Amino acid sequence: MNLYTPHPVRVAEVIDETVDTRTLRLEFKDPAFAESFDFKAGQFGEYSVFGAGECTFCIASPPTRRGYIECSFKKVGKVTNAMRELEVGDTMGFRGPYGNHFPLDRMEGDNLLFIAGGIGLAPVRCVIWNALDLRDKFRDVTIVYGARSVGDLVYRRELEEWAGRDDVKLWQTVDPGGETPDWKGEVGFVPSVVEKAEPKAENTYAIICGPPIMIKFTLPVLIKLGFTKDRIFTTLENRMKCGLGKCGRCNIGPVYVCKDGPVFTAAQLEDLPPEF
Ligand SMILES: Cc1cc2nc3c(=O)[nH]c(=O)nc-3n(C[C@H](O)[C@H](O)[C@H](O)COP(=O)(O)OP(=O)(O)OC[C@H]3O[C@@H](n4cnc5c(N)ncnc54)[C@H](O)[C@@H]3O)c2cc1C
Ligand code: FES
Repeated sequence: MNLYTPHPVRVAEVIDETVDTRTLRLEFKDPAFAESFDFKAGQFGEYSVFGAGECTFCIASPPTRRGYIECSFKKVGKVTNAMRELEVGDTMGFRGPYGNHFPLDRMEGDNLLFIAGGIGLAPVRCVIWNALDLRDKFRDVTIVYGARSVGDLVYRRELEEWAGRDDVKLWQTVDPGGETPDWKGEVGFVPSVVEKAEPKAENTYAIICGPPIMIKFTLPVLIKLGFTKDRIFTTLENRMKCGLGKCGRCNIGPVYVCKDGPVFTAAQLEDLPPEF
């Protein structure tokens, strides 16, 4: 089969997360392919709307939940606008999974700290559910999630579920001015809430995804708390085309983000050329 041929998927559910962000639950139309399909947390795919084109999203649902995949996307341009037109029962395309993944196997027996901003929660949500579905394998699970305003928080039902669990510590925050009168979470930027949460660095892995500015100011906080750069993982979103290491669209120096990434440690990012 041609590597670029998408597999037809049926839109099984449409969930509005915010005014401009939507989640689609997708089911493979070929039952044999659906049965054999597997991936790891952190991998991504190329999603296509016939006649509009392809775009890249992480797989936002965990590999522990079989029979479907989910993607969450922000409406920004041609393909994402076309995806907004899709309804339950419509067909679109998916090819993947591509890229490397978060090494959850290596993290077993340790604490997990998840830090996300805005729609950056999509790839992190995949790892969170993956870990929670295998809860006995991990120690403390802490989540720090921030958005610009209360209306920009994604996965609201899941945030409520995590907040209600006694085996998860959830810190939610919105930027100053983004709170509503009934907001019970923190008000402040993600890095300062991480500082306040004071997660212990010992035997802990940090997984972080969000706007570059959030990552830039959160990294020094983690280092100050004692995290080493090889225990801090993030995922990059460089513009991609093939997703397969063939077109050269996504590279940073010698590194192909689609093949060598998208998951990197803070130590690996430090070694990349300054164009990053
Ligand atoms: C590995 C990976 C995972 C991703 N996961 C998600 C996800 O889970 N949810 C999500 O909403 N988005 C995600 N993205 C970004 C997403 O691919 C783009 O937003 C999408 O391709 C835009 O398609 P479009 O045709 O609607 O926009 P276009 O019409 O192509 O572009 C609209 C605008 O968005 C900008 N843009 C397009 N792609 C990117 C990009 N990769 N980075 C920065 N700016 C871009 C363009 O420069 C332009 O200004 C991911 C990207 C990568 C590489
Ligand atoms: S997207 Fe084509 S080489 Fe990475």
